[in-house]
Amino acid sequence: MIITIDGPASAGKGTLAKEISSTYGFAYFDTGMVYRAVGLEMFLSGKDISSEQEAEKVAQNLSFQKMMSLSKHPEFRGPLGGKNASIVSAYPKVRAALLKMQQDFALSPVLADGSKASGVVYDGRDTGTIVCPNADIKLFITASPEVRAERRYKEFQSRGINQSYEEVLKEIKARDERDMTRSSAPLKPAPDAIIIDTSNLSIEEVQKKVNKIIAEH
Ligand code: C5P
Repeated sequence: MIITIDGPASAGKGTLAKEISSTYGFAYFDTGMVYRAVGLEMFLSGKDISSEQEAEKVAQNLSFQKMMSLSKHPEFRGPLGGKNASIVSAYPKVRAALLKMQQDFALSPVLADGSKASGVVYDGRDTGTIVCPNADIKLFITASPEVRAERRYKEFQSRGINQSYEEVLKEIKARDERDMTRSSAPLKPAPDAIIIDTSNLSIEEVQKKVNKIIAEH
């Protein structure tokens, strides 16, 4: 079984995907990692983030192992990592170079300990529309920019990252704008996606809704 979870930054996709992965024993692919890895590698190697050509080269040379190793860098999940990921993810050539790696993951999905998984859960922006258009269940998780900024602000605080709520909200809105207006794979629900607005729902309420959808499927 393949489940895709798309939606804007900090809507709760990752939390939900991890929960599905542990409840059902499914492998998990956080697809934002491929763009974070390319964006961070551009920064670390001193390349110009505004060059699509340079970013394409970095994307073509990205392996799963390299992505995992870059993910240990403190900036990978920090403000710079998010911003650079959002910039390189708007380049069509970068998206094309990273598509196969994401699709191949579903061919022989494995859990973190290397054992075979009976399904896969993807989270991202285009996993139900482009990466896995034939997924069994497609979810689109969203929430208001203010609620998402509050969640990200608290997450940054707990990790000792110093950014004000206003700065986080500004960055979330800028990212939404880039993600929704880019010509290549703009953020939008697949026509057959189930849309869940989590603004007024607890994590448990969202999980309950989704468990019901999976059970009915
Ligand atoms: O989900 P995360 O915040 O890690 O994603 C980082 C950035 O990568 C997003 O802002 C978005 O621009 C991009 N992204 C994307 N397509 C995906 C996943 C992430 O364009 N499937």
